[in-house]
Amino acid sequence: MNHESTRIIHDEHAALAAMLQSLRMLVQRGPGNEPEQFFDVLRAMLFYIDEFPERLHHTKETELLFPPLRARAPHLRETLDRLDQDHAHGEAAVRELQHLLLAWELLGESRRVAFEQASERYLAFYLAHMRTEETVILPEAEKVLTPEDWQALDAAFATNGDPLTGKYPRDPVYDRLFTRIVMRAPSPIGLGSA
Ligand SMILES: [Fe+2]
Ligand SMILES: [Fe+2]
Repeated sequence: MNHESTRIIHDEHAALAAMLQSLRMLVQRGPGNEPEQFFDVLRAMLFYIDEFPERLHHTKETELLFPPLRARAPHLRETLDRLDQDHAHGEAAVRELQHLLLAWELLGESRRVAFEQASERYLAFYLAHMRTEETVILPEAEKVLTPEDWQALDAAFATNGDPLTGKYPRDPVYDRLFTRIVMRAPSPIGLGSA
């Protein structure tokens, strides 16, 4: 990745993929003897995904990266339309997951399968989405965008990349939340003791 903006997107994908894999392992292991810890960590993970990638990462792609790419690579229009639809749908999907998790926690085992299936669907959807961006979109962007496009894009990422803080680097509060989740998640996923 040669440009600051694609490097940022790539780094955010790596962090998100790590979070999603941890979430999958945690769900597969189940609450065991530590249901409180289990539901606390899962809730924090879904909150992170809802707060950071769904609101900030997708916005950068849809509003800043995709428009110049649409102009320079018309053959990618269908793919970009699909990715934009994914972005539009993702926030509702993660809210639904948060609700299904609460149902499992508060109503018990009868609601477990619904959460497990929905989280697996969400993970598959999300990982496929990022794979397309990593294997199709970012390489094509490196090929077709002009130096002027990159200059504008990098400047936009530096000033408007984060709609909550209005500046980049992003609000460190998200890095702290990410670290806190990793610290609390049980091993081998994270560093927590439970
Ligand atoms: Fe995306
Ligand atoms: Fe992305």
